[in-house]
Amino acid sequence: MNDIYDRFAFDYDEFGRIENYLGDEKDFFDGLFRKYGVKTILDCACGTGQHLYMLSQLGYQLWGSDYSSSMLKTAKKNLQERGNSIPLSQCDFRYLESEFNINFDAIVCLTNSLPHLHKDEDLLMAIKSMKNRLNPGGLLVFTSGTTHYTLTLPSIEVVVNREDFSRIFVKEHDNHCQTIHVLDLFHNSHRLEHNQYDIVYRILLDDDYRKLLIEAGFTDIQIYGDYDMSLYSKSSRRLIVVAKL
Ligand SMILES: C[S@@+](CC[C@H](N)C(=O)[O-])C[C@H]1O[C@@H](n2cnc3c(N)ncnc32)[C@H](O)[C@@H]1O
Repeated sequence: MNDIYDRFAFDYDEFGRIENYLGDEKDFFDGLFRKYGVKTILDCACGTGQHLYMLSQLGYQLWGSDYSSSMLKTAKKNLQERGNSIPLSQCDFRYLESEFNINFDAIVCLTNSLPHLHKDEDLLMAIKSMKNRLNPGGLLVFTSGTTHYTLTLPSIEVVVNREDFSRIFVKEHDNHCQTIHVLDLFHNSHRLEHNQYDIVYRILLDDDYRKLLIEAGFTDIQIYGDYDMSLYSKSSRRLIVVAKL
């Protein structure tokens, strides 16, 4: 599998400092995990480590894994800088059993990570691999910014607009996949440079997640439209899936 984050990983956090993720996501996860007595969590697409850091600050015991060794390098640096030493390992989430011989109370796969797989058989393999590493009664959580509503938004979005740096998303989609062309423009006296990263996501909406999770053997599935736990609808701006074993 090609690592599309190989170079992007080192500039990924131009989105903002990882602490800035401590918003309404934090209360959502803490409320959910406390309700079900979750103590141990694997973030199996941990990226640069923002959710690992957020959840460690809340007192959970964490493990992180990701396919991209560059994302893991950035995560390691981010966590070390904050005095944190969560174990990190390189692993494709379709094969979690190859890296982990323990089970977890919860597994999270956040911010459009699962949709990097495009074929039904790969998606199912990943969900089954996650299910196999859950303790009885364990939780599997996916989050995504792709919804019925966001697919209707204009195709150009300025995501970061600073004096020295701009990040622009140019989006296109068909019925099956959405491509986000990430355009990074550095315009300061030290760095005058532009980079483009093209990320192709499988479009997975509420019914697609339900179908895959039922096929993988989950029966208790909730789909929310925001971190306030409002239920998903066609006007939601987020899609948050919680499946319980
Ligand atoms: C959009 S980033 C999200 C990262 C992080 N979860 C976040 O919230 O910022 C997608 C992440 O999924 C990882 N990823 C994609 N396919 C993967 C796979 N098959 N196994 C493990 N990680 C994968 C990428 O390397 C990347 O770090």
